[in-house]
Amino acid sequence: MSPTHSSTRPSDVLVIGGGIIGLVTAWRAAQRGLATALVDPEPGGGAAQVAAGMLAAVTELHYGEETLLGLNLASARRYPEFVAELTEASGRDPGHRQCGTLAVALDADDRAHLRDLHALQSRCGLASQWLTGRECRRLEPMLAPGVRGGLRVDGDHQIDPRRLAAALLTACERAGVRLHRTWAQRLTVDRDRATGVVTADGTALGAGRVVLAAGSLSGRLEGVPADVLPPVRPVKGQVLRLAVPRDRPPLLNRTVRAVVRGSHVYLVPRENGELVVGATSEELGWDTTVTAGGVYELLRDAHELVPGITELPLTETRAGLRPGSPDNAPLLGPTALEGLLLATGHFRNGVLLTPVTGDVLAHVLTTGELPAEARPFSPRRFGASALSEQPA
Ligand code: GLY
Repeated sequence: MSPTHSSTRPSDVLVIGGGIIGLVTAWRAAQRGLATALVDPEPGGGAAQVAAGMLAAVTELHYGEETLLGLNLASARRYPEFVAELTEASGRDPGHRQCGTLAVALDADDRAHLRDLHALQSRCGLASQWLTGRECRRLEPMLAPGVRGGLRVDGDHQIDPRRLAAALLTACERAGVRLHRTWAQRLTVDRDRATGVVTADGTALGAGRVVLAAGSLSGRLEGVPADVLPPVRPVKGQVLRLAVPRDRPPLLNRTVRAVVRGSHVYLVPRENGELVVGATSEELGWDTTVTAGGVYELLRDAHELVPGITELPLTETRAGLRPGSPDNAPLLGPTALEGLLLATGHFRNGVLLTPVTGDVLAHVLTTGELPAEARPFSPRRFGASALSEQPA
């Protein structure tokens, strides 16, 4: 479709995608004096509406992801200041809760897995403490009697991603970000340079720089040259929400998580009584169906950890799509196409990486340079030239 009309004034920066990553990018760019626009049919939506919001740099550490750990920790450290600034800018409470996390084991296999994780955390210089089953239950009395040990990580906190998204949206509006509530249909490119987008209603939006921050959809934008298109894929997560009645004491004081028969399960207690139980991890393309099997497995595993959950009302079941990347790490910064930058591929760590992503993109948009902490996450690591440089 050819554009039917043009927007009056090109922006300095156009962000494609109004999830938390797009919003934080737009907010930080606008704060630095750049005329910023954002295109999304439903800004503030996306995977943040499903995510539990664990800030789990230490308890979600995986072998081979030590470089990503550095970025995760940098973002975790920024959270208190980020939340204070966002609260001030938006007048909204983004629901940050500094409650810590307890990762527990239910059987010998789970305990061996946790022992390995503890050793890896220690090698990486991370603070975590091994507890016996009895010590775990002293901290969290509603845990099942069968819990055989656990790891106490006082530095892994949580935030409510729905409230975070709402606060970021308000902060963007107050900072003067222009919101275009429609789909970006196609990237426009002129003489090997990204120049903007054409939206679903045929409007051409011009921009000095375009930031593609469309989560799991980032690999599908028309007009992006094939060798620049980010290798991002959807990874489905089903999540449940339960509610502890207001007249009852909280079931848990901190996030409790475990690997049960190879599947991750976590229970994230909000201050308002909401208890978020997640999450499946399914490679099923664009499917966001909530399945009986997904709900059953989450409830079964969560019940093994905390039997008392069966008494709680089940208030919501939902599935979202994580933006998976080939190395589980985000793609941040300029691409091989001039004028096009990426802020996508955050996979399991989108909420955690929100503060650092905003800072990195603001830095690169104002200076042209990727800050040192973000260089390992340049999108160019997946480009055609990077791949041909690999040893045979
Ligand atoms: N970080 C939690 C998840 O992706 O399920």
